[in-house]
Amino acid sequence: MRNDLWRLFSWLGVAFGFPWLFLVLLPYVKQSSAAPVPYAESDEAGFVAYPDPNMVRAGASDYGAEIYRREGCAYCHTQMVRPTYAGPDMWRPGWGGREEEGLARETRPEDYIGEGYAQLGYQRIGPDLANVGTRLTDREKLHIQLYNPRANTHESIMPGFRHLYRLVPADGRDAALKLEGKFAPEEGFVVVPTPEAEALVDYLLSRRKDAKLPASIRPAVAEAAPAEAPAQ
Ligand code: HEC
Repeated sequence: MRNDLWRLFSWLGVAFGFPWLFLVLLPYVKQSSAAPVPYAESDEAGFVAYPDPNMVRAGASDYGAEIYRREGCAYCHTQMVRPTYAGPDMWRPGWGGREEEGLARETRPEDYIGEGYAQLGYQRIGPDLANVGTRLTDREKLHIQLYNPRANTHESIMPGFRHLYRLVPADGRDAALKLEGKFAPEEGFVVVPTPEAEALVDYLLSRRKDAKLPASIRPAVAEAAPAEAPAQ
């Protein structure tokens, strides 16, 4: 009996001790000797501040983020350009950001600064939206995408979010969506966005994760320009 108890406790010790060793003690020892990473204030590529003030989302787009979350867009769309070892995102045109300006890159954790909630996404049924604001800049087209995706892409499987739009009598207002052919509303009526739809489109247009990064977190640039020593 005593022997059995002794065995039970020793095996319990092994069962908890090993995970503790590898999950707690070893990481603790490793992390406590890690040197802090310097945060450079500027680098040769012209970095001034992060996040880039041009990227700071204004006005209704925070409200738009709420709508994005509420409507479950993240069930089908991610907002993260994966590193190339994990997927071919960087090979897809426009996914990485403004290629013509040499800004296209993989997403970094810093890109979520200023967002109340990082909408990483859940799975990728539709395209990644990390840089959709640099890729699709036409408000009208984004509204049509939300109202009836098939009016933009013939075989789209994205659901329409028609409850964000109103069908109103045509009285020549500017906001009406230009829906043609079989997508057009019935005679004498037009489709106009609600403030929620406008906020969601503002939010989509603000999706840009291609701002310049400081040298300390972009080692490739620091290496390419050895003349400028990284700030301590
Ligand atoms: C059931 C999955 C699903 C949901 C939910 C969904 N989408 Fe989509 N979305 C897609 C698919 C698939 C495409 C690609 C086909 C197309 O362009 O219509 C797409 C395309 C898009 C595009 C065009 C992207 C590009 O690069 O061409 C935008 C913008 C977009 N979705 C925004 C949204 C927003 C905003 C929401 C939430 C209100 C949303 N989607 C909800 C599946 C979905």
